[in-house]
Amino acid sequence: MVARATAEYCRSIGDDVVALSRADLDIADLASARAAANGYRPDAIINCAAYTNVDGAETESEESFSANVTGPKNLALAALEFGCGFVTISTDYVFDGAFDGFYTQRHQPSPQGVYATTKRRGEIEALTSNARTIVVRSGWIYGRGGTNFLSVMGDLLREGKQVKAIEDSYGTPTFAGDLARRLRELAELDLPGIFHVTNSGEGTSYFGFAEKVCELGGFDPALLQAVSHADLSRPAPRPVSSKLACLYSERFGLAPMPEWQDGLRRFLATNS
Ligand SMILES: NC(=O)c1ccc[n+]([C@@H]2O[C@H](COP(=O)([O-])OP(=O)(O)OC[C@H]3O[C@@H](n4cnc5c(N)ncnc54)[C@H](OP(=O)(O)O)[C@@H]3O)[C@@H](O)[C@H]2O)c1
Repeated sequence: MVARATAEYCRSIGDDVVALSRADLDIADLASARAAANGYRPDAIINCAAYTNVDGAETESEESFSANVTGPKNLALAALEFGCGFVTISTDYVFDGAFDGFYTQRHQPSPQGVYATTKRRGEIEALTSNARTIVVRSGWIYGRGGTNFLSVMGDLLREGKQVKAIEDSYGTPTFAGDLARRLRELAELDLPGIFHVTNSGEGTSYFGFAEKVCELGGFDPALLQAVSHADLSRPAPRPVSSKLACLYSERFGLAPMPEWQDGLRRFLATNS
């Protein structure tokens, strides 16, 4: 989802983009990562690949480790050796969700569950393998081609289906198109470290997001049912609150990210 949005955005501004699927490049294979960097000779590598099945990771920990730890490390090394910029994506799930506010780079990660733990390990491996690494933590991402709950909610409501949404779990929604633009800006800025990138505003709950989808899409809010995160028995733990804010982006001259409601409006307008 994020890779497609990023390739589309970069092409739209005239970049020469090489977008590789898993069949083209297994990021867990260092030799392949090196060969890709030396063969394509990029100015920057943006790693959007990951093992993203949060519940599946609880039983597929090796796959999660390969894609989320070994993969970013390999690409960081390949970028270092070739001499290009490197951006890799991480997650709000590196935080445990016990803090009822916006997590910044000053907050200590405390990942829960296999997916979150491997993503945090991946951050550390990438940052320590290559001092030029830019880690972009994002969260609650939705976009075209996405199969996660936030991405398909509008489709379900359009079809008149009932939607259960959690009313007591909070995050900062992020439109993949807006994340893509910021990934490109950060690659060009080439300032290493950890950035938090989400749409701006106060954040919301899944239920609040669903209500906004109904309002903007003209769907019947009676289709929504509020549930508690405690009612769902899911294999992996998730942070109850994982809103993100960035200490650096605006200080480095980047524009504030669009409000999440604005990102959602643009997503629904192009995805109906
Ligand atoms: N979606 C969210 O809400 C969210 C929130 C926070 C952070 N993130 C992060 O954002 C990034 C992008 O997520 P997304 O939602 O766009 O994920 P996605 O749609 O699931 O795409 C991930 C892609 O990575 C590929 N991949 C997995 N292992 C690979 C490997 N070893 N080598 C090469 N490719 C591999 C997958 O291929 P296959 O389909 O073949 O497995 C898939 O195409 C990830 O780093 C994710 O952790 C996502």
